[in-house]
Amino acid sequence: MGNSVAVVGLQWGDEGKARVIDFLTETSDFVVRFQGGSNAGHTVVANGKKHVFHLIPSGILHDNVKCMIGPGVVLDVWSFKGEIENLKSTVPNIESRIKVSAGCHLVMPYHKTLDKIYENLKGDAKLGTTGRGIGPCYSDRALRHGIKVGSLLNLAILRERLETILPIQNELLTKLGDEKAVDLDELMKEMEEIANWITPFIGDVPKTINDGLDKDKSVLFEGAQSVMLDIDYGTYPFVTSSNSSLTGLFAGCGVNPKRVNEAWGVTKAYCTRVGEGPFPTELFGQEGEDLRTAGHEYGATTGRKRRCGWLDIPALKYAIESSSINVLALTKLDVLSGYETIKICIDYDGDNYRVFHNNPDNVDKIKPVYLEMPGWTENIEDIRDFDKLPQAAQNFILKVEELTGLPIKLVTIGASREQSILL
Ligand code: IMO
Ligand code: MG
Repeated sequence: MGNSVAVVGLQWGDEGKARVIDFLTETSDFVVRFQGGSNAGHTVVANGKKHVFHLIPSGILHDNVKCMIGPGVVLDVWSFKGEIENLKSTVPNIESRIKVSAGCHLVMPYHKTLDKIYENLKGDAKLGTTGRGIGPCYSDRALRHGIKVGSLLNLAILRERLETILPIQNELLTKLGDEKAVDLDELMKEMEEIANWITPFIGDVPKTINDGLDKDKSVLFEGAQSVMLDIDYGTYPFVTSSNSSLTGLFAGCGVNPKRVNEAWGVTKAYCTRVGEGPFPTELFGQEGEDLRTAGHEYGATTGRKRRCGWLDIPALKYAIESSSINVLALTKLDVLSGYETIKICIDYDGDNYRVFHNNPDNVDKIKPVYLEMPGWTENIEDIRDFDKLPQAAQNFILKVEELTGLPIKLVTIGASREQSILL
């Protein structure tokens, strides 16, 4: 059986998953996205050039790798097309390198409008979504009035479905949002165009992956978002609308859990969150600003300022436990260079350590208990060996291993591929 590895985020997204994927792709045949949509913003810097992927799996820059988009992903075809066109000069044979499942639900233009309408209606209780139509699309899937990519292969049936669905959407758009109703004929024109364009990409993704594993192919599963943004395991309601922990993998691409040999979890050396919701170790004012500046913490999808704070071990342990993670990657360690003292939250006050397991509604009320560790002043971006890191940086890594009980196999110390330390 081929080797297969899954990579998921353990915090609130933006952990640097794409860096880890890019690194692990060296030894992979397939890279597979299994959930989420263009709310993801995965940044890879290769040969001095920065690429941000939203739907295209981060393995695309490696020539011999096939990239797959599993049925658990919600596909904004228009956004996908834009990404493909942007990459054409870098990846000339891109059409033959990507397969999209016919089972993916389509993010329709009205989903994006509805995303904004719901956010407005919630006022101060808004989630701070990415506005990419993710929630409304997954809701329509559950309501059984979504449209799958496969429906683009038969426009007569697609039209029939839209005849049923569109009046419902128009009711919502006009009554909740004061928007113009969508015209069926106009929408069908757009769908026809997109149908012709996407047809060559459509394929049987679950079968391809399972056949590949039978033939000893190595498969890398690329999570988007994170455990703490998972609809079931995250800080509900401040979450995304898919299972963005490891649990989403099995539903999202039709693979038996036993076929995943290693589950990697990615954590930054500190924490960030974009959008609303609880964040126990958040730093405010100048302290937050300093960390944001040091880590260039601005959203890759929306450009929003990310909220920043110290590493949160109770939250991390919860994420590890609820996704059976067995290997860690620690990213952006270089950002902590220059701090005289580095804090790690090792506990919450009182008996709240298991607040995420027991009562996430109380997360807002807890206070972090910090361990303070001496920092280092050296620039570590050009170091490639653990032993050459300043002692204080080594101690930080060892402490995270001790507190989580997991091995850290990769540490990243800069945005480029080479800026990695293997342990
Ligand atoms: P990657 O894959 C960080 C957040 C949004 C919002 C909440 C719901 O790059 O780590 P949605 O648009 O999904 O309905 O928004 O989830 N969010 C992310 N935050 N990184 C992401 O993806 C995110 N995708 C969604 O900011 O708080
Ligand atoms: Mg991101």
